[in-house]
Amino acid sequence: MPRAIISPSVLASDFGQLTAECKRMIKGGAEWLHMDVMDGHFVPNITMGAPVLACVSKGVPGIFMDCHMMVAQPEKWVNDIADAGGSLYCFHLEATSDPLALIDAIHDRKMKAGVAISPDTPSTAITDEVGEAADMLLVMTVYPGRGGQKFLDRCVPKVAELRARFPDKDIEVDGGVGPKTIDVCAHAGSNVIVAGTAIFNDPHPENVIQTLKDTVNQ
Ligand code: DX5
Ligand code: ZN
Repeated sequence: MPRAIISPSVLASDFGQLTAECKRMIKGGAEWLHMDVMDGHFVPNITMGAPVLACVSKGVPGIFMDCHMMVAQPEKWVNDIADAGGSLYCFHLEATSDPLALIDAIHDRKMKAGVAISPDTPSTAITDEVGEAADMLLVMTVYPGRGGQKFLDRCVPKVAELRARFPDKDIEVDGGVGPKTIDVCAHAGSNVIVAGTAIFNDPHPENVIQTLKDTVNQ
């Protein structure tokens, strides 16, 4: 299985100090930063878009921005996110009719491509062709839309199913993940770990990051 990558979700950070918060996480051992882009259509909330990401990438040189696109028309934002310095563009399978073309468009802009599935979407919705073309698969362990929700155990078998089909791919879990829920995620085969409130609400985020990493790598 690929090595652990910890991707703190900045949705749980102080947006007024976003670049400082990202630097704090990198200093604490995070490899990636998870940027939740919500458009008020695919999900009810609105968070941030390309102009904010551009400021972060300028303010935090070398940052790997793991962009989770909770948007209704993911085709529309590939160029803007690439121009803003996005490193990985993860779209929802539910939001597109042509995932292979979208993966190509993302690769054309030199970003890694991720495919996300919401709790009600089965792992089989990711075809072999799409899974092979993508760089990362994201299994949502809450309904997308906001941070701080309860982890949905019933999503975990999908991680194991995808790990069996795609042994070398990055598989990310997102939603309600923290030291209390990491064991099942790691055991099922996820290696990219998103955690928002579990990391940002802790007085020692570096300890939480280390715990998550050690559990995946053990
Ligand atoms: C939910 C977002 C998640 C969220 C995770 O729609 O995609 O990335 O911020 O937050 P926690 O870890 O607090 O559940
Ligand atoms: Zn997310």
